[in-house]
Amino acid sequence: MVPVHRTAPEGHRVLISAPYGSDAESVASLLRTNGYDALVCSRLDELADGIDDHAGAILVTEEALSAQLGVLQHALERQPAWSDIPFILLAGRQAGRPVATEAIRRRLPDNATNVVLLERPLSTESLLSAIASAMKARQKQFLLRDQVAELEAERRRLSTLLENLPIGVAFISTEGNTESVNPAFQQFGIDGMIPSLDPAIRSRWEGCDPDGNRLQPDDFPGARSLRGERVEGVEFLYHAPDAPDRWTRVSSVPLKNDEDAVIGAISVIVDIDEQKRAQEALREAARNLEAQVAQRTAELAGALDRLRAEGDERERAEAALRQAQKMEAVGQLTGGIAHDFNNMLTGVIGALDIMKRRIASNRYDDLDRFMDAAATSAQRAAGLTARLLAFSRRQSLDSRATDINALVASLDELLRRTMTEKVEVSIVPADDLPAGIADANQLESAVVNLAINARDAMPDGGKLTIETRTAELDAAYCATRPGVKAGRYIVVAVSDTGVGMDAKTLEKVFDPFFTTKPIGQGTGLGLSMVYGFAKQSNGQVRIHSSVGTGTTVSLFLPVAEGPLSEETAAPGTTHEGDGQSVLLVEDDDSVRLLVREVLTELGYKTFEAAEANSASELLRSGQHFDLMVSDVGLPGMNGRQLAEIAREYHPDLPILFVTGYAENAAIRAGFLGTNMAMITKPFQIEVLSAKISEMLGAA
Ligand SMILES: Nc1ncnc2c1ncn2[C@@H]1O[C@H](COP(=O)(O)OP(=O)(O)OP(=O)(O)O)[C@@H](O)[C@H]1O
Ligand SMILES: [Mg+2]
Repeated sequence: MVPVHRTAPEGHRVLISAPYGSDAESVASLLRTNGYDALVCSRLDELADGIDDHAGAILVTEEALSAQLGVLQHALERQPAWSDIPFILLAGRQAGRPVATEAIRRRLPDNATNVVLLERPLSTESLLSAIASAMKARQKQFLLRDQVAELEAERRRLSTLLENLPIGVAFISTEGNTESVNPAFQQFGIDGMIPSLDPAIRSRWEGCDPDGNRLQPDDFPGARSLRGERVEGVEFLYHAPDAPDRWTRVSSVPLKNDEDAVIGAISVIVDIDEQKRAQEALREAARNLEAQVAQRTAELAGALDRLRAEGDERERAEAALRQAQKMEAVGQLTGGIAHDFNNMLTGVIGALDIMKRRIASNRYDDLDRFMDAAATSAQRAAGLTARLLAFSRRQSLDSRATDINALVASLDELLRRTMTEKVEVSIVPADDLPAGIADANQLESAVVNLAINARDAMPDGGKLTIETRTAELDAAYCATRPGVKAGRYIVVAVSDTGVGMDAKTLEKVFDPFFTTKPIGQGTGLGLSMVYGFAKQSNGQVRIHSSVGTGTTVSLFLPVAEGPLSEETAAPGTTHEGDGQSVLLVEDDDSVRLLVREVLTELGYKTFEAAEANSASELLRSGQHFDLMVSDVGLPGMNGRQLAEIAREYHPDLPILFVTGYAENAAIRAGFLGTNMAMITKPFQIEVLSAKISEMLGAA
């Protein structure tokens, strides 16, 4: 290993001061040959100047120190603290003096403390060895200098860090004194004893345990860490004496020596006020939001309640409106009936009155005129009730498979006569039209009603078209029309090119007694009848109309599956009886009186009963009957039930029902058994007699 001290960047030079002879030069050359940098200084001030970082050692002879030492002393004083330049002092051996005594050493200045005293003469090896160890010691001084400098730099870095750290840090002694604190720590006003030990400042620190109880001094982080515990992150509210409260987080760790004994602690205080307040603000915001949401929810609920209340209110209002409309309709209906009936009754009663008076005064001429007048009025009343019953769908329908094209064709003549000359009539029957199920008489009167409406809508003439066709109603369409079944229908459409109707009129056309015609010209029952008839026939009516263009009323009737029914004989002549016995059951006295009279006049033997019980007694009595004529609506037992009893005793007895209307809108086909028939009130005597003789003839 190369000896570093001779070639090191510092401390490599040996300063030599030996004033006598060639001492200095010979030592210098010896050193140079041994690899040293040697500098001969002839005077002490030169030597003093040479004491710098290059200098590794100073070799002086005793004689060199005789001169003024002050300059050397100053130079040594100027050395940095770490520097203590080694001296090798060469002393000569003198008789009577102790070897290398302290006295000789004292010839060097006081502040030359690193001195080796060598006695001359000495061997070259001894000299070189002394120089080498002095130079090595000098190198150690440089090393020490560098280490100290490094430590100093480290210390400066640390203290800069602590100075600028935004976190308070303090070293605490085992007694609880703060020993070094940084500025961030100082601002919390702890100077001296830590709060757990200083009652004067303790109350400024408010901390809580997890249960919310205020911390006792012994539980403060500083106190705990001095007992050897590591304490992290205890929150304190710091009540500064002259500033607003601040939130802090305090930690403390014990400092221990090698034997694990506590020799102090480091306490750290972090200001978390902003963070804490931000959290609080956030929490507050969340609470506000919750409150707002709750309030908004309540508002919405309130709005919903109001809406519901309004809905209920509207429903009540609508119900009230419907009720009012119903009452208006009922009022219109009863008013209409009363009005028309009064007119007709006036005709009947008036005529009967006049006849009664004329008969009383034996004036029989001209009676026919009044009888006709009474009969006409009564017929009109009958027509009115027939249409009302049709509307109420309580008429007795004789629905059967009917050739509708033929029916419409048979009306041709009648329609042309009914129209004015200015109205062109055209009938357009569909080819291969299947039979429809309908009561022929009612269908005729429906078509006539529609045609008359069309005529009235065309006062200045126009075109009336009656067309037949088939139509398929699908399930989707029927879903929107209660009471209409999907399937095939026959359509009878009556169209005109008349004035048409506006939406307001269209809304009401089916209302009974709704008419736009002057008093006496329309009863407002035509379309009501058509509507009721269509409904009761399991069909429907549709109206298309536009003001100024015209109207089409379409009557839908179900297509018949079976074959056509036979035509019934048209009433015409009166058929006379031949003494056959007839049981008449009728609860209405006048009707019973009337029918009995008719039967007697027609030549039948009549037995009468006002209700079912007395009728059944007669039936059980053994009396022979050729025919029973019975009202359908009897008190107690109805006509149909009575017929069952009658058939028990007289199995083949023909039964003719007379009805104002069949209860529950019964259609004859479902109501009547074999050899039973039905006529409706009021009836003409011809119709009754024809029916009776038809039934007796068949029996
Ligand atoms: N083809 C039509 N064109 C224009 N308006 C019509 C037509 N058919 C009916 N109306 C209107 O509907 C109203 C009611 O008709 P509806 O047949 O029920 O009664 P009405 O014809 O007035 O009297 P009636 O009982 O004598 O038939 C008519 O008064 C008329 O205003
Ligand atoms: Mg009409």
